[in-house]
Amino acid sequence: MAVDYHERIPNNVDLSGNRRLQRALESWQPNYLRWWDELGPASTQRDDIYLRTAISVEANGWANFGYVKMPDYRWGIFLAKPEVGRVIPFGDHKGEPAWQEVPGEYRSALRRLIVTQGDTEPASVEQQRHLGQTCPSLYDLRNLFQINVEEGRHLWAMVYLLHAYFGRDGREEADEMLERHSGDPDRPRILGAFNEPTPHWLSYFMFTYFTDRDGKYQLASLAESGFDPLARTCQFMLTEEAHHMFVGETGIMRVLQRTCEVMNELRTDDPERLRAAGVIDLPTLQRFLNFHFSVSLDLFGQERSTNAATYFTTGLKGRYHETRIHDDHCLTEAIWPTHNLMDGQIVCADGPALLSLNERLRDDYIVDSQRGVNRWNRVLEQHGSDFRLALPHRAFHRAIGVFADAHVSPEGSLLTEGEWRQSAGDWLPTDADHAFVDTLMQPVTAPGVMAGWISPPSRGINGQTIDFEYVKFAS
Ligand SMILES: [Fe+2]
Ligand SMILES: [Fe+2]
Repeated sequence: MAVDYHERIPNNVDLSGNRRLQRALESWQPNYLRWWDELGPASTQRDDIYLRTAISVEANGWANFGYVKMPDYRWGIFLAKPEVGRVIPFGDHKGEPAWQEVPGEYRSALRRLIVTQGDTEPASVEQQRHLGQTCPSLYDLRNLFQINVEEGRHLWAMVYLLHAYFGRDGREEADEMLERHSGDPDRPRILGAFNEPTPHWLSYFMFTYFTDRDGKYQLASLAESGFDPLARTCQFMLTEEAHHMFVGETGIMRVLQRTCEVMNELRTDDPERLRAAGVIDLPTLQRFLNFHFSVSLDLFGQERSTNAATYFTTGLKGRYHETRIHDDHCLTEAIWPTHNLMDGQIVCADGPALLSLNERLRDDYIVDSQRGVNRWNRVLEQHGSDFRLALPHRAFHRAIGVFADAHVSPEGSLLTEGEWRQSAGDWLPTDADHAFVDTLMQPVTAPGVMAGWISPPSRGINGQTIDFEYVKFAS
């Protein structure tokens, strides 16, 4: 499954064997490049970035590192190796051979799933467009650009499916991927979190930890799909997603590390004194965590969802690690506990598992999110701080689902609107918090030097030293 880099569009799907498809994608390519130029990382077209490029989909050695100008990045189409004799692992078609073509009756549902996933990929590139100008180090700048080019490639992955399997309306959907824009009042991106700005690096690290992790769970459940090309595409995308979450987790860890050092130097945890010393105080970090976690929870959708049930029974979207779960994979009788509002209380009650698939995926996500928070707290512990970061209650600050109209504290208490208003500024980032974080966002571009609010990483990229010149600016 080697990737052919002699082609205009690198791929491992034998694109040259399908001239019509090849031509269609080659005519989409200039529109993509124009979009990258206009809404991709700002003012970076001539810089040389130390990037990895996929050269094979094998578990070992799929990546190649070297200096690349981002517009020359070889965005391509890579599917994981086919599994011989793969069968649909769940739903009404369980045990039937996986589909190599789109089943006619599920065409529009499948297209909607692909479009919704695809739309998030360029959205995050748009959201992060200006961050390069305030990078805390060359190491961080390079990681930002690596994520950006990979999100671009994820768009290519979904656009390939649309072009290859959905005919004219697939091509139209592919065009619209470049016409909706993050935060555009007239043509916004499809999902809420992807229209929120990512104004600075603290938001960015939280975003890559919490929101890219939603991507992991969506991709993992699509990687179980009975539609084999979608499953194989998502399997390969997941390998890239891991790096995005790594950037978020280690980014926050390095911020904590730096804050703790200054707390110990100054022997204080007073936010004002810490801010004056140029680091981000812990309550502010907790507020940003609360925000990004809660908007990411919304991405999983309604607690009870007939759409999710249909995606499952029709074999289009499975559960996280579907094939590793020991049950009938049909869920006709199964139950699952979901959170709900009843008689003015938050209760967790059993309901049909089939209708609760969004909530189940959210449950898996919450468990996974907690792991990183535990690692962050270990940094606090090691520095002798009593402060602990915590995930807020799942009902906190929600805009989708049964809690959308409720006012819930981070601890999970139901409040009146007045009580909520009084405390919201303690729980969510305020304009003043953003303004303070903005003051720290001064670019640092000397190799090996870090901004004062963040510690160096524990190691460099691909065995390089931390002071390696990860980005060479065009002069
Ligand atoms: Fe992605
Ligand atoms: Fe990502």
